[in-house]
Amino acid sequence: MSSKTIYEQISPILRPNSVAVIGASRSPEKIGHQVLRNLIEAGFPKDKIYPVNPKADQILGLKCYPSVKDIPDEVDLAVIVVPAKIVPLVLRDCVEKGVKGVAVISSGFKEVGRVKEEQELVEIARKGGFRLLGPNIVGICDTVKKVNASFCQALPLAGEIAFITQSGALGIALVGWTTLRRIGLSDLVSIGNKADIDECDLMLFFADDPYTKVITLYLEGTSNGAKFIDTLRKVVRKKPVLILKAGRAERTTKAIQSHTGSLAGSDLAYDVALKQTGAIRVPTVVELFDWATALAKLPLPKGDNASIITNGGGAGVMATDACEKYDVKLMDVPPDLAEKLRRFMPPFGSVLNPVDLTGMATEEDYKGALETVLRDDRVHSVIILYCHTAVTSPIKLAEAIISAVKESPVKKPVVVSMIGGEECDQASDILTSNGVPSYPTPEQAVASLGAVYKYARYLKKVGGGEVKLEVDRKRAEEIIRRAVAEGRSILTSSEAAEVASAYGIPVPRKPIAKSAEEAAKLAEEIGYPVVLEVESPDILHKTEVGGIKVGLKNAEEVKNAFNEIMNNIKRNAPEARVWGVIVRKLIKQGKETIIGMHRDPIFGPMIMFGSGGIYVEIYKDVAFRIAPLTLEDAKEMVEETKVYKILSGFRGPRLRH
Ligand code: ACO
Repeated sequence: MSSKTIYEQISPILRPNSVAVIGASRSPEKIGHQVLRNLIEAGFPKDKIYPVNPKADQILGLKCYPSVKDIPDEVDLAVIVVPAKIVPLVLRDCVEKGVKGVAVISSGFKEVGRVKEEQELVEIARKGGFRLLGPNIVGICDTVKKVNASFCQALPLAGEIAFITQSGALGIALVGWTTLRRIGLSDLVSIGNKADIDECDLMLFFADDPYTKVITLYLEGTSNGAKFIDTLRKVVRKKPVLILKAGRAERTTKAIQSHTGSLAGSDLAYDVALKQTGAIRVPTVVELFDWATALAKLPLPKGDNASIITNGGGAGVMATDACEKYDVKLMDVPPDLAEKLRRFMPPFGSVLNPVDLTGMATEEDYKGALETVLRDDRVHSVIILYCHTAVTSPIKLAEAIISAVKESPVKKPVVVSMIGGEECDQASDILTSNGVPSYPTPEQAVASLGAVYKYARYLKKVGGGEVKLEVDRKRAEEIIRRAVAEGRSILTSSEAAEVASAYGIPVPRKPIAKSAEEAAKLAEEIGYPVVLEVESPDILHKTEVGGIKVGLKNAEEVKNAFNEIMNNIKRNAPEARVWGVIVRKLIKQGKETIIGMHRDPIFGPMIMFGSGGIYVEIYKDVAFRIAPLTLEDAKEMVEETKVYKILSGFRGPRLRH
């Protein structure tokens, strides 16, 4: 099996040509019966469905086999719906039969503490050389091959969005929910206990699946952060991934509370992991499918310039606000383009962006304005807003928009918001099913276009190289090892400076003086003014014990400061080991920043950057990335903070004197 790609390993499960239902029951109320009926009703070829039940000859008109071993055909997928205790038994039969993949619907394993029993299933599957989905799953809904090997009420509508869910119940619920909203799925797969196949395997499968354009995932947690990140990095380069990660509340309570290391909490780590890998985190199920629809149907924009065309000022204003929120950049309409657009509006219309055709706008006006911006190379994406008026039929408008988009030789993303009642809903369906995603509110339309932009921007910057540093790692290791051997978990100031310089970070020299005379001599070499600070592995907060003297301008002041520091330490920290006094150059006051590290239990080391100083916990102006960082990650992390603006020269409003 190892020589097979993940796509080849999982294909028999998600794109099977024959399916056995082990535990196909004679009783209509049992899950095993429903799975069999679902398979038949969804339209999977009847002659390739094999019920297995030792007590029955025939179920739902199909010949029944006492064991999977008795089936006279190859079995791609075996769906297991027998009580947990019998599962290993029938799984061994699957090995003997040589089935190619297994989905275990049965509950009663890890989720109830039967970890060993669950592990046994994986071991049997390994022997058989096949992959195992589940246990404890709703099953599989594959609209490509019409496989409803689940106890969902029906197959979802066919489409190009794959939905992977860690919650079986949500999966079941979303079949009806997506159908009502006419959202098509390629697959709906519940991963249950993830004994073998997990969300990473499925994402890799869908990345190579020709029927899937967008991958969506409902996730409560992953157990292997490194694998998750590595998978996302690979998959997002091929297809957009949208993730609804539950458990945000933890973020507000725990994550951003404390200093340095403990600033990072687990939900924050997920947030950062998704950002860094280009996966898009969505807040709710609504956005999950709104954005997935846009990403499945729209071409990627070639540039930033978005244009709004509306018949209502209010809708235009709402969309403008949303553009700012979702990072969709509205262009200034150049005069020549404005002139062309004037032809499609009364004199009191507006050619600014939003382009307001006014409430008098007909479908011809919309079509003309849309064709004009689609033809213009300076416009890269379009948002069309329509407030239902008596002047224009939403259906006719939908048809006009579709024909303008279809006839346009240049493919640009166009989203629509039809604001109104039933007719608008119908028009929206027509638009969306013809490749122009349409939404009930301007904000939803803009947010969906925003997701398309987000993905396009990620693809553009992907491949930012690893940072290559000139590092004297040996020296850094020596210093750290020595501290650890002494039972310390904190480096002294001069040690930290040495580690920083081993990594090429410029720091002032920090030589140590053992006497007042030596301190004065070092100060002469370094140049005034200087700072003196006590060097002790036992003193962290130097100011509090009188261990720092700043702005010393001559040898006399340095000698006095040295003696004063020594006396202060004797008095305030008599137990402390003192290695001497550091003499360093006084650095002109700058802006203090902080760099920290925290080891997340799932994702490992996370690097933090932000505003430093004594108010760090109040400002919480920090950003995180998971190590190792690319150069692009590092830049983005810095740019995310407010202190970045200050560092790059922001002066703020000028005050009058
Ligand atoms: N091979 C094949 N069939 C067999 C075998 C065998 N070796 N032995 C027994 N069977 C038959 C039974 O005779 C029965 O058929 P019958 O009704 O015609 O007699 C059929 O298999 C089912 O067996 P039952 O003992 O009746 O089991 P039941 O249907 O009550 O339960 C089930 C089985 C559904 C797998 C149950 O154990 C279970 O795990 N339920 C939970 C499923 C679930 O919720 N999954 C998670 C979804 S995610 C979420 O939470 C929404």
